[in-house]
Amino acid sequence: MNSKDMKNKRVFITGATGFVGAHITKHLIELGANVTVLIERCDSTSYFSICGLDKKVNVYYGDISNGALIEQIIVEQKIEFIFHLAAVALQDLAYKMPKVTFQVNIVGTYNILDAARLHMDTVKAVLVASSDKVYGDSDVLPYNESMILQGSNPYDVSKVCQDMLARSFYHSYKLPVAVGRFGNIYGPGDNNFNRLIPGTVQKLENGESPVIRHPANGVFKRDFLYIKDIVNAYMYMLYNIEKEGVVGNAFNFGTGIATDIETIVNKIKAIMNCENIESVIQQSDVNEILIQQLDPTKAFERIGWKAEYSVDMGLAETVDWYRNVYFKLS
Ligand SMILES: NC(=O)c1ccc[n+]([C@@H]2O[C@H](COP(=O)([O-])OP(=O)(O)OC[C@H]3O[C@@H](n4cnc5c(N)ncnc54)[C@H](O)[C@@H]3O)[C@@H](O)[C@H]2O)c1
Repeated sequence: MNSKDMKNKRVFITGATGFVGAHITKHLIELGANVTVLIERCDSTSYFSICGLDKKVNVYYGDISNGALIEQIIVEQKIEFIFHLAAVALQDLAYKMPKVTFQVNIVGTYNILDAARLHMDTVKAVLVASSDKVYGDSDVLPYNESMILQGSNPYDVSKVCQDMLARSFYHSYKLPVAVGRFGNIYGPGDNNFNRLIPGTVQKLENGESPVIRHPANGVFKRDFLYIKDIVNAYMYMLYNIEKEGVVGNAFNFGTGIATDIETIVNKIKAIMNCENIESVIQQSDVNEILIQQLDPTKAFERIGWKAEYSVDMGLAETVDWYRNVYFKLS
């Protein structure tokens, strides 16, 4: 399968109004797919709304926790491919709302997988959004897919459960599933301004000091991935889903490079000509993983994916979008 085969394919996307989901929705519409989305909430300033995607998809309103609704969508729309991204996707929010997080991220994922299992006559692939957080704090870096999953706070644990649930549905029922374990994703359209990159761009645009959080035992480092590389990652999983070594598997999607938070902030300052604005250094009070770095070798060897965007290229496009699109909305 390749991009030309997507025309008229019946695709269901959860989390389509979120940052990553909106980019995937836009890409699939451009390929001519027949896209159905589940909307729990949608902000008028979301990338989904800004791009006018609501007018180009079939919309169902509701919650991922509603298993009957999920099954209804799959049946009514004769869904072939599912991109499951809906989640409580912020660590601090998950920390404050563990019950909702487990309900949405675990039960919601179960609902998708079980409805897909019951309708394998039409459903040919389910792609699930996992995270590098599943590996937890590790002395061995970069992470590879054979390491044990040891997330230890609500968001990370919910992602471990989701990741294992998804793969269990292949191993138990032969549901064609693939799981992406993504590093820190950034790019146009992320309205979660308490994330590092959108938050820093917004602060600097307002002439305010960006905040750099340091843990007591070092500096946070993350594997930063540009959104266009992520869209490709999902599509490459889909195009190769029938292959042995792909179906039922999890894949790391990262650059293989861990960059510290201060370096990212300083790069954004340079792009925005704001080097004169001092950063505020704060001690982190949340128990977060210190360093995250992904080995993407398996994704390259089995589905031909590798990150094309350097952090400098991706940040330049990102800043340009916030300045020329998002900040001009209000
Ligand atoms: N952004 C990242 O850096 C990153 C990294 C690794 C993994 N992920 C995963 O990728 C996925 C997408 O992340 P994102 O950054 O786009 O998140 P986001 O917060 O921007 O979007 C989340 C989406 O889920 C929807 N949603 C939340 N609760 C719901 C519910 N109860 N019912 C139905 N829909 C609901 C929201 O409305 C939104 O559309 C998530 O599963 C996240 O865990 C993200």
